[in-house]
Amino acid sequence: MSNIIPIDLLSVATNPSYLNTLVTANISNPTTISLLAYNAKFSNVLGAGATARQLYDLDWQAFHEMGTYNRQTNSIYITSNYQSLEDPINITILDLGNNYSLTSTQYQDVNEANGGTNWYPPGTLPAHGSYSTTPPNLLFCDEGDFEHYSGLVSVDPVTNTSTIILNNFLGRNFSSVNDVRQHPETGDLWFTDAQYGYFQNFRPEPSIPNQVYRFNPSTGEAVVVADGFDQSNGLEFSPDLKTLYVTDTGAQHFGPNGTRPATIYAYDIIDRKRLANRRTFAYADTGFPDGIHTDTQGNVWAGCGDGVHIWNAEGVLVGKIWIGVTSNNFAFLPGAVLVFSNAQLWIVEGITAVGREICRDFGVGC
Ligand SMILES: *[C@@H]1O[C@H](CO)[C@@H](O)[C@H](O)[C@H]1NC(C)=O
Ligand SMILES: *[C@@H]1O[C@H](CO)[C@@H](O)[C@H](O)[C@H]1NC(C)=O
Ligand SMILES: *[C@@H]1O[C@H](CO)[C@@H](O)[C@H](O)[C@H]1NC(C)=O
Ligand SMILES: *[C@@H]1O[C@H](CO)[C@@H](O)[C@H](O)[C@H]1NC(C)=O
Ligand SMILES: *[C@@H]1O[C@H](CO)[C@@H](O)[C@H](O)[C@H]1NC(C)=O
Ligand SMILES: *[C@@H]1O[C@H](CO)[C@@H](O)[C@H](O)[C@H]1NC(C)=O
Repeated sequence: MSNIIPIDLLSVATNPSYLNTLVTANISNPTTISLLAYNAKFSNVLGAGATARQLYDLDWQAFHEMGTYNRQTNSIYITSNYQSLEDPINITILDLGNNYSLTSTQYQDVNEANGGTNWYPPGTLPAHGSYSTTPPNLLFCDEGDFEHYSGLVSVDPVTNTSTIILNNFLGRNFSSVNDVRQHPETGDLWFTDAQYGYFQNFRPEPSIPNQVYRFNPSTGEAVVVADGFDQSNGLEFSPDLKTLYVTDTGAQHFGPNGTRPATIYAYDIIDRKRLANRRTFAYADTGFPDGIHTDTQGNVWAGCGDGVHIWNAEGVLVGKIWIGVTSNNFAFLPGAVLVFSNAQLWIVEGITAVGREICRDFGVGC
């Protein structure tokens, strides 16, 4: 029996409250998660047998962003939500080999971490589409604080040693570096900068536009590849590396404002280096699209105001993993996806979708 609930779009068309007749959440204590099909193809994308459950409901916000797998520790690394300068952002380590057990830690030179990814230093990048022989390190976007630069910091989670990879653009300070991906063929680091450290009162007033950058870690070449955002936030490659998706979370500054972007833009990637043909790919109906990942079929998944939304490559909303509260990010596992909603962690198991990086990270589905 399928756990997927079909949404009748023609009912939605004339009844703005239609969704509430199907699903509700207690936003101060969400305990249920629903799989909503906005398109008949959703059961092909997610898998008709997918099931969802809550793994954790804590009294602090351990599950905010990142969600990067490290094979040596067989763990997923998640950044916690910002609380105060006295209680800086933690790294939550979820041990996949031990019943999803949790520990929190902090690393040297990682002051206020947000997004992140796996990082292969020059000379260790595996061939695109293959499992690497050299295990990668973690790469954190450090938003910085009033004393420390914002930038990209690498951590080896076995030795716990840190290396600062980049902390300025040709002498200019970043505002709050937000999220990063490594190009699977060139090894370049593509990343976004936004103003959330300022909005959350732990960074000085910004002095540079919100932009997307490309950094060549072999040569140090740093280039601005896109601007014109309200708040450039998540970014992700399509599985064929022809398209870059960038989320704009402008709908949230110091507070929410629904007239600003909650939008995913798509760009053509030219010569693996530049961007062209910016276009509006999708707009999230609830909250804003934050962390973003693609699957091997080219579907685009993003954490939004009521859970994870999934669009096909044409930008049609095919479904939602609905929890009724904000999900800023999520992480694909083989056959599953972990969904982060700050105090809660959820898992959807038995999925057919395969995350773009599952082969490289886990060595399965190659
Ligand atoms: C929602 O959750 C809170 C916290 O657990 C609880 O006190 C409240 O009774 C719940 N509300 C409803 C309508 O169940
Ligand atoms: C860091 O982790 C501890 C529990 O290990 C928690 O009490 C604290 O609130 C966390 N801080 C943040 C900012 O998440
Ligand atoms: C796994 O952890 C959950 C709580 O997170 C607990 O309820 C369950 O008993 C644990 N299972 C095993 C086999 O340890
Ligand atoms: C850049 O950031 C560093 C580290 O926080 C700070 O010391 C310096 O004053 C900043 N420079 C400018 C021009 O704001
Ligand atoms: C690295 O940090 C992890 C998590 O806090 C800890 O379990 C491990 O013992 C540390 N390793 C070293 C070599 O310090
Ligand atoms: C929302 O944002 C728009 C565009 O920046 C601005 O003109 C408007 O004043 C804002 N509304 C509120 C209520 O802050």
